[in-house]
Amino acid sequence: MKKQWWAAICGLLLSLMSCNNVAERVYNQGINIIPKPKELIEKEGVFVLDGHTRFQTQSEELRPIADYFAQKIKLVTGANLLKGDAKTNIVLQVDSTLPLNAEGYRLEVSPTAVEIIGKSPQGVFYGLQTLMQLLPAEIEGGKRICGTKWTIPCVSVTDEPAFSHRGMHLDACRHFTPADFIKKQLDVMAMFKLNRFHWHLTEDQLWTPEIKKHPRLIEVGSVRYNQDGTVATQGFYTQEEMKEVVAYAAERFITVIPEIEMPGHALAALAAYPELSCTGGPFQTRPVWGIEPELFCAGKEETFHFLEDVLDEILAIFPSEYIHIGGDECPFVRWEQCPLCQKRMKDENLKNEAELHSYFLCRIEKYLNSKGRKIIGWDEILEGGASPTATVMSWRGDVDGIKAANSGNHVIMTPGPYCYLDYRQGGREVEPLSMGPCTTLEKIYSFHPVPDAIDSAKQHYVLGAQGNVWREYIFDTDHIEYMAYPRILALAELTWTPVEKKDYADFSRRINNACVRLDGHSINYHIPIPEGPIGDDMEFVDTVTVPFFNTRNYPMYYTLNGKTPTTNSTLYEQPLFLDATTTIKIISVLPSGKTSRVRTINYVKTDYAPAFEGETSPGIWMRHVDGLFANSEAYKNATFSEPKVIPYFTPVDLKALDDYKTPWVEIYEGYFEVSEDGIYTFAINSEELWVNGKLILDYNNKVARNLTVRVTKALAKGKHHFQLNKNNSIKKGFPDTWRETTFYIQSPQDEELVSVKESQLSH
Ligand code: ACM
Ligand code: ZN
Repeated sequence: MKKQWWAAICGLLLSLMSCNNVAERVYNQGINIIPKPKELIEKEGVFVLDGHTRFQTQSEELRPIADYFAQKIKLVTGANLLKGDAKTNIVLQVDSTLPLNAEGYRLEVSPTAVEIIGKSPQGVFYGLQTLMQLLPAEIEGGKRICGTKWTIPCVSVTDEPAFSHRGMHLDACRHFTPADFIKKQLDVMAMFKLNRFHWHLTEDQLWTPEIKKHPRLIEVGSVRYNQDGTVATQGFYTQEEMKEVVAYAAERFITVIPEIEMPGHALAALAAYPELSCTGGPFQTRPVWGIEPELFCAGKEETFHFLEDVLDEILAIFPSEYIHIGGDECPFVRWEQCPLCQKRMKDENLKNEAELHSYFLCRIEKYLNSKGRKIIGWDEILEGGASPTATVMSWRGDVDGIKAANSGNHVIMTPGPYCYLDYRQGGREVEPLSMGPCTTLEKIYSFHPVPDAIDSAKQHYVLGAQGNVWREYIFDTDHIEYMAYPRILALAELTWTPVEKKDYADFSRRINNACVRLDGHSINYHIPIPEGPIGDDMEFVDTVTVPFFNTRNYPMYYTLNGKTPTTNSTLYEQPLFLDATTTIKIISVLPSGKTSRVRTINYVKTDYAPAFEGETSPGIWMRHVDGLFANSEAYKNATFSEPKVIPYFTPVDLKALDDYKTPWVEIYEGYFEVSEDGIYTFAINSEELWVNGKLILDYNNKVARNLTVRVTKALAKGKHHFQLNKNNSIKKGFPDTWRETTFYIQSPQDEELVSVKESQLSH
C-alpha cells in the first residue's frame, strides 16, 4: 500500500519535472511551421502567453475563430484568452485591402503583443494556426500541462497559399468509415491549412449517402458480403450526419466535396435499382476490387432522372461549388451490347462509346450548372471530349492534367506515384500490404503540381493537388491514419509554400515537431521501420553481414538477446556481423522518443540443403478441387482430382474476371532446380509454399497475398522438392485468380525475384 502511494507521488513529480521544460525539447527548437510560410523573419525575444493574455477583436465574424483557439489553448495552458484584464493582447482583425490572396494573413509577434491581420476570416484562422505552431508542440495535446512557460518567438510573417485546392480524399466505401473519424481528420487537416475534403461516397462495393427518395440505395447498397455470406463491411451516412460533417468542416474553413460516381463504380446503386443498368441484373454489391463491367445505362431516361434526384438531395447537404461525378474506369462492354445505349448513340450522333460517356457526364454537368454548381471528374472525362467547364482530376500520371490545362480546363493534380496515399511508404518487407509502388515522404514532397509542360500562360489553370486515400487494402481507421500521416503534411506544404522555398531537409526536421502535434490528436502516423534484410526469416552459411537503414535516417536501437529494444539498447552504428543463429530485434526512434514497431528478424545458420539425387521428368503434378475453403486446414481432407502432370502452373485467364465466382483449390508438386550452391529468396501470391518438406511461406487466413513476405533458404546446387497451394477464394477482396500462379525465386546473381521457369521444373 505504502509503496504504491510513494510510486504515485514519484510519478507525479517526474511528470511535473518533465513538463517544465516542454519548450526546450529538441523537436521544439527553431521554427517548425508546416506548411512553411511564404515569408518569415525571425526577431529577438519572445511573447509569453499566460493568464494575462487576451484575444482582442472588434469583428463579430472573428469571435467564433477566437473561441475555437481559446478553447484549445485553455485546455492545455489553463489561460482563458476570452475573459478578464489583459496585460498582453493577441489582436485579430480582417483587412480586405491586404495585398495577398483570399486566404492570406500577416502575423507580427513582439514581446508585448501579437497581431494577426487576415485578408479574410479564413486568413485570420490560418494566422492563428501559425501562432499555434510557434508554440511548443504540446499545445495540441488537449490536456493540461502545468509549470510550462508558453513562449512564442518574435517573428514577422507574411503568408498566403500558392494553390487554392489543398486537399485530402477519403474512400469511405470500400470499407465504411464513421463520421466521427472524419471529424477527427478535419481537425488535423485544418492545423496544416488543408482546405478541401474530397469525400468518395459511392462505389461498386458500398453506397453510403442516405437518399430519401430512393431508400433502397441504403437498404441494399450499404452492405458488402464475403463469399461465404458473412458481412464484410456495412454502414451509411444519414443526411443529418453529412450535414454535421459539412458544418464541422466549414468551422475549420474546409470545403467538403462529395463524389457521386457515375457511370461506372456504381454497382452498389445498381444492386438496389438493377433496372438502371443495361442488362437489368440482378446484382449484389461487388465482393472484390477492380473494374466492374456494369455501368448505369446511358440509353434510359430513368437513369438521368434517378441521378438528378440523387444530386438534388446531395446539393441540399453539400454547399460546395464543386461536385465530383467520377467518370473513371468505365469499360464499355455493356453499352456496346445494349440496344438502348446504341440507340442513344445514333440519336445523338455519337461516334463511339467514349462519346456516349462524354454525353452522359456533360448532361449531368448541365444539370449541375443549372443549379449553380460545377463538376470535377477523373481524367477519363477527357477521352470522349471533356466539357470546357469541367475540372479534371489528373490521376493516371500528370499527362492528362497537362493536356487539360493546356486546353483551358481547370486541373487538380493527384498523379498516382506522388499523391496516392494507399501506396506503401517503405520497403514491402516492412510495410503492410498495399497498392502500388513505394511513395516515401520525400518522394511526395518532391512533387510540384505545375509541370513545365503546361504553357506559362495556362499554369493558373492548376488549382492545386490532393492526397488520395483509396481503401482496397486499408481496412480500418488506424490504418487510414498510418497511410495518410505524415505524408499528407508534404501535400500541405507543396500546395501552400512557394516552390522555390521548399526544402526537404528542413521539412523532415519540422516533421518531428508535427508528429508530437499528431500525438496530441492520437493520430496513428507512420514511423519508418528499419529496413535492410529483405525478409524476417533468413538463412545463412558461415557468416553474414546485416546492414540497416530507414527512410528518414532516424537512430535505430537493437537487441540480439530476444528482448524488446528500447533507447537503452545498443545504438545501430554499423552493419551487424553474425556467425551464429541470432534473432535481431530493432526499432527506429523519433526525436520525441516515440518508437517504430519492433522488427524481429531470425537469422538461422545452416548448411546448404542437399539436392534430390533421383531421376525426374519434365512437368509438375497438379490436383484440383472445386469449392470454397477458408484455409488449408479446411481442404486438408477434401477429395481432390487424381494428380495429373502439367507442363507449368495453370495460367491466369485475365479475361475471365468473373472467375472469382467459382472458387477452387489447386495443389502443385514437383522439383525445381538451382544452378549453384547459394542463398535463395522466395515469395508467393498464393496460399502456401513448401520447400523440401517445410512450410516456408504461409498466407493462410491472412490479408490478400502479394509477395509481401520473403524468406531465404540455403540450397545446394540441384533439384529441390516443392509444393504450392493456390486457393482461389476471395481473400479480403482479392481472388487469387487475378494473379499469376507460380512461385518467385531470386538466385544470388538475380537483381530481383523472377517467377520460376518451366525449364527449372520437373516431377
Ligand atoms: C481512381 O483511382 N480510379 C481515380
Ligand atoms: Zn444501356
